[in-house]
Amino acid sequence: MPALFSELAIRDCEIPNRIAVSPMCQYSCGPDGLPTEWHRVHLGSRAVGGAGIVLTEATAVEPRGRITAHDLGIWNDEQAEALRPITQFVREQGGVPAIQLAHAGHKASKTRPWDGNDPIAPDETDPDGATGWEVLSPSPDAYPPFSGDRPAMRKATQDDIEDVIDDYRNAAERSLEAGFEIAEVHAAHGYLLHEFLSPVTNHREDDYGGSFENRTRLFREVTAAVRDVWPDGKPVFVRLSGTDWLEDRPSWDIDQSVRLADDLADLGVDLIDVSSGGIHPAQKPPGGPNFQVPLAEAIREETQTEIAVGAVGGITEPAQAEALVRNDRADLVLVGREFLREPYFGLRAAGELEDDAPAKWPVQYRRSVR
Ligand SMILES: Cc1cc2nc3c(=O)[nH]c(=O)nc-3n(C[C@H](O)[C@H](O)[C@H](O)COP(=O)(O)O)c2cc1C
Repeated sequence: MPALFSELAIRDCEIPNRIAVSPMCQYSCGPDGLPTEWHRVHLGSRAVGGAGIVLTEATAVEPRGRITAHDLGIWNDEQAEALRPITQFVREQGGVPAIQLAHAGHKASKTRPWDGNDPIAPDETDPDGATGWEVLSPSPDAYPPFSGDRPAMRKATQDDIEDVIDDYRNAAERSLEAGFEIAEVHAAHGYLLHEFLSPVTNHREDDYGGSFENRTRLFREVTAAVRDVWPDGKPVFVRLSGTDWLEDRPSWDIDQSVRLADDLADLGVDLIDVSSGGIHPAQKPPGGPNFQVPLAEAIREETQTEIAVGAVGGITEPAQAEALVRNDRADLVLVGREFLREPYFGLRAAGELEDDAPAKWPVQYRRSVR
């Protein structure tokens, strides 16, 4: 049997295969952050398409934490209720529903990518008439934005920090109500938790800035809060940027990621989903197939405590994904853009890698493959 189709058991959660839909923002909500028909079809199709885990897009734990006014949210009960049919459908297809809990920090309040991805000031609107807001940042002088002018920034106070921790905790509780099985804390790509981790963006002089221990404090506190309300039998994942790809200045790198991974394992994190970059426009990522896999491998091999890792980035072929799991380079493979091109990537992989693939197809479609 292909390693890609072996079960991954984490705590009481049985993940039917090693393929996950990587979180991908759809920017398809109204300002209420409620899922729309688009989300039901988008996430539902990938569940039909054989993904073992279907992760939502970055889902904001508070309104200020949205990248755009069109992001999915989990800051109120109505949103949790509206997500429930999606989690139920994913389960009915044999997949495991997972939610990425996110706060965009100072990369918030933007127009959608297809409208330019530009920062919107609190007194401006995007092309759909949604207003901008003041964004939260570890430091007011964080970095030049990837595009457009610097948005109005608020340096997070101690109260703001405590609110963020509460927002994550409450969002996790709501996610449970909504039927999610896995909670993933998003600490990558230059968003709030990564902004605290990286010396590129964190210039604080209090308990949340400076030393490794201080810069990682907020992420550790958020993770502990999520783990605290997430049942013992259910997994918690985190997504990290393994490195900032900024060797020319003090920044976040793989050595710090390995060190942090040990702390995360102690906090009850089950899997680290290893991405990279996103903090500064001067980054120099290598790109290409498997380009982030060495980061995942380093975390898998060098941590003192055993912790599972997910590999992501440039994974497009079933044989490539199979090799990553079979050769113990990763426990899970997350597939992003290939799942946009091919919603049935999981079924295609089954077809290419194993003999009883038709059994993986939904009964409704089976006449097409027998
Ligand atoms: C349209 C789109 C939206 C994305 N949104 C998110 C997101 O919400 N959260 C996240 O952690 N990464 C996000 N990403 C990054 C992907 O999850 C993934 O890490 C990246 O695309 C690399 O994997 P790939 O080469 O398989 O696409 C997004 C990527 C794309 C293409």
